Amino acid sequence: MLKVGLTGGIGCGKSTVAGIFAGLHVPVLDADEIAHRLVEKGQPALTQIQQTFGTAILNPDGSLNRKNLREQVFSDMKQKQKLESILHPLIYKTLQAELEQLIAPYCIISIPLLFETDMTHFVDRILVIDCPVETQIERVKVRDSLSIERIQSIIDSQVSRAFRKAQADDLIDNSDTDYRLAEQVKKLHNLYLSISACRD
Ligand SMILES: Nc1ncnc2c1ncn2[C@@H]1O[C@H](COP(=O)(O)OP(=O)(O)OP(=O)(O)O)[C@@H](O)[C@H]1O
Ligand SMILES: [Mg+2]
Repeated sequence: MLKVGLTGGIGCGKSTVAGIFAGLHVPVLDADEIAHRLVEKGQPALTQIQQTFGTAILNPDGSLNRKNLREQVFSDMKQKQKLESILHPLIYKTLQAELEQLIAPYCIISIPLLFETDMTHFVDRILVIDCPVETQIERVKVRDSLSIERIQSIIDSQVSRAFRKAQADDLIDNSDTDYRLAEQVKKLHNLYLSISACRD
């Protein structure tokens, strides 16, 4: 099965594009969604995080206090790396297990930090969702009501737009309206089906 890694900076439209592929009945795996599941109440990863970051990261009911954890790792590179060293290997392990259950010509694997985690070898092809940084900031500001400074610092912690574009096998330009997005996805869908047919 052809594995297409879908990536892009914060707010570029990865989830939106993944949803369009899913609408075409393409299996979509999502690293963000797995990360969420891994830190659900009672999960071993949450215990590990609590041992590393203290009980303050837990709500009274034992669930993850996301705000507390976010604040702890936001401005502290070392703490951020500690969290990532717990979560990233588990995310890829879970993705691998989910992949082994799939039967399809190709699948989309949404991995926001594909480059940052140095895991491009995990996929056969890289699809980058791209839009200008100003558009990223505008969309995330509306979606998450974060300050511009906060959004900019997240953008700065990710690889640059130019780097991503240089690494892409395929690119979706998401600076425009949703209509053009569906059109671009349909074209890539046909491309991936034909690549997959050639590999058989
Ligand atoms: N083409 C578009 N036109 C208008 N709004 C859009 C477009 N694409 C995405 N958006 C909006 O921009 C926001 C960010 O999109 P989305 O959540 O898909 O990005 P993402 O790359 O998954 O973000 P994250 O990195 O935070 O997971 C959402 O509110 C989405 O509805
Ligand atoms: Mg998303």
